[in-house]
Amino acid sequence: MTPDSLFADDAHHLWIGGMRIADLASQYGTPLYVMDETTMKNRIESYLSLLSNLAVPTKLFYAGKAFLCTAMAQWLRRWPVGLDVVSGGELYTALAGGFDPEAIIFHGNVKTVEEIRYAIAAGVRYIVVDSLAELAIIESEGARLDRQVQILLRLTPGIDAHTHAFIRTGQFDSKFGFGMADGISDQAVSQALSSDHIELAGFHAHVGSQILEEDPFLANAQSLLDYAQLWHRRSGWWPTVLDIGGGFGVRYGPADEPPELTHIFHRIAEAMIAMTPKGCAVPELAIEPGRSIVGEAGVSLYRVGATKFVPGGKQYVAVDGGMGDNIRPALYQASYRAAVDGRSLDDTASAKVTVAGRYCESGDILLADVILPTPEVHDILVTYVTGAYNYSMASNYNRVPRPAVVLVSEGTSQVWVERESWQDLTRLDRLHRSEV
Ligand code: LLP
Repeated sequence: MTPDSLFADDAHHLWIGGMRIADLASQYGTPLYVMDETTMKNRIESYLSLLSNLAVPTKLFYAGKAFLCTAMAQWLRRWPVGLDVVSGGELYTALAGGFDPEAIIFHGNVKTVEEIRYAIAAGVRYIVVDSLAELAIIESEGARLDRQVQILLRLTPGIDAHTHAFIRTGQFDSKFGFGMADGISDQAVSQALSSDHIELAGFHAHVGSQILEEDPFLANAQSLLDYAQLWHRRSGWWPTVLDIGGGFGVRYGPADEPPELTHIFHRIAEAMIAMTPKGCAVPELAIEPGRSIVGEAGVSLYRVGATKFVPGGKQYVAVDGGMGDNIRPALYQASYRAAVDGRSLDDTASAKVTVAGRYCESGDILLADVILPTPEVHDILVTYVTGAYNYSMASNYNRVPRPAVVLVSEGTSQVWVERESWQDLTRLDRLHRSEV
């Protein structure tokens, strides 16, 4: 729920990565994204140790869509982890951070011809194919270059995970992947197997994000295995990799109980061993967690700009950020926990407040009806678990520059992404001679 290194001192001042939050806010300004290196390191290392204890080959691909910048790609290189990218821009960022293309897998339900060419030229490990149209492009690019392109097919196993409808992906009516119910996936497999320029390395399926139950992950892996067996019976083909995607939920609040990953992965590994046909190698189990690596590492710092009571007694606290740096409350009704630096919840002035953002939109509410030690103008408000899908989904709505991203660790801080300036906002704008 909070970064591993976070604590409050006796005066209720918050510290993260050995740095005072108040000092970070003064040095770098607000709003500010702060990432705690210790938390990210702990999450990656616990995934790696969990995977290394399984009796099957494994590979961790961090899902860059949760949070990616060149420094993140560079930072990840110290571990034997791969990267899942979902656009030419993410691939470019990863390569600019020196990430090994051989450890990158390229996703996306629509990839342009230009992106596919870029991924093949860069030498990514797998392209995860999402449609017959994409298969045809890869086939013709492979023929043009006289290359065999390694692919996975993204399947839609028909699993309805209990998460917000906007972040569910495994159900049959999903926009993602080849449906397994309507024969499209069969067509894709036959086409891939008969192609001279494509090598089908295996299957991928991702059931959704922020999933707190175990069953969808088990059902997902089981359906990939069943389908692989079907194709083994039909053609003798057997996958070298089964990629079950990401989606492992985290604790945004006390009600969230993350799934027991050790149990899930052991069950899946057992099924993989049991279902591998005689004479075939057990496939590699690939996973693509994003949120569960960076989510809890991140906090956002805001400065309170105004407070007011409205008729009916509701109290608003307005801060200098909002939906431009965290769209999740407005988009998914996501709720966050917060604290006020230097103030304790036991404070007699604690009250129910609504924290509003600065954007010209009534729906720009960061936290609705939360109990906080009543923040005053200039106080620093901290929101937790903002490391995933905050910076990566940020916008310039209202022409507000996006915040900086700062990494903190053992008493030091390092800028990973500079704060945008007003000049950055007009950099791509073009002025034209007036017609009047
Ligand atoms: N692999 C695939 C194919 C995915 O589509 C995703 C997430 C992941 C891995 C990583 O999932 P994670 O481990 O981070 O849950 N913007 C939404 C989340 C969208 C997730 C999209 N796909 C949010 O803010 O909740």
